[in-house]
Amino acid sequence: MAVASALRPDVDTAIADNAVSIRHFTRRFGESTVLRNLNLDIAPGEFVALLGHSGSGKSTLLRALAGLDPVDEGQIQRPKNVSVVFQEHRLLPWKSVRDNVTLGLDGKEWDQQAGTILQEVGLGHRTEAWPLTLSGGEAQRAALARALIREPQLLMLDEPFAALDALTRLRMQKLVLDLWKKHNCAVLLVTHDVDEALALADRALVLERGEIRTEVEIPMARPRRHADPAFEALRERLLGALGVSV
Ligand SMILES: Nc1ncnc2c1ncn2[C@@H]1O[C@H](COP(=O)(O)OP(=O)(O)OP(=O)(O)O)[C@@H](O)[C@H]1O
Ligand SMILES: [Mg+2]
Repeated sequence: MAVASALRPDVDTAIADNAVSIRHFTRRFGESTVLRNLNLDIAPGEFVALLGHSGSGKSTLLRALAGLDPVDEGQIQRPKNVSVVFQEHRLLPWKSVRDNVTLGLDGKEWDQQAGTILQEVGLGHRTEAWPLTLSGGEAQRAALARALIREPQLLMLDEPFAALDALTRLRMQKLVLDLWKKHNCAVLLVTHDVDEALALADRALVLERGEIRTEVEIPMARPRRHADPAFEALRERLLGALGVSV
């Protein structure tokens, strides 16, 4: 992957070679340093999974990348259009599914676009529904539609399926792969699930003590089989990096 040689700290949008470029990023909360001198590149259209123990700083990294937190130390370059989906769907209960998806976007064409994208996520029949009447999986589909309607160059997913049952989670994983192929955006997926990372991503990272300590390329063609020896070898490696022996 191309390493940025001419990074300009005053430019906030990513250079052409990378969707994301993070250099020497440090994040502290009071006395504690959560992220330390962190460097990360994500190529356009690349799917990256981010693993790490609870409290290792995964969400902190996403928040900084999403522009939700200030960047005090280091540089972060990202595309203009970024979207985040969180573990909880964060839909406004007093607005219909369609109005949640078009939140902040004015004009009839957005209504139409919302219809199209809700079809894509399998919610074409629930466009006028209230969020409270949706199942957990449906609500996350709506959240994905809301994230994708602006055609982000970078889609960040912070444990989006953690609260879903195993079967729904598998369906959502397939949906994310389909949407990724269709929309061609870079994806940064935070997950606790090594198998999820291996099923979806081009590359998996393990965050530990404020740094990316392990980085694994996942070369297998998709759809991937858990029984594939290459899958098993990578699973062992990632679990090892997370301190779980198999
Ligand atoms: N606003 C804040 N103020 C103080 N400390 C914070 C703040 N946000 C996060 N932290 C601390 O930073 C560390 C990393 O938190 P973060 O939420 O990024 O972890 P995480 O890897 O996403 O964990 P999880 O897997 O449980 O979601 C934690 O110790 C947390 O307490
Ligand atoms: Mg988190």
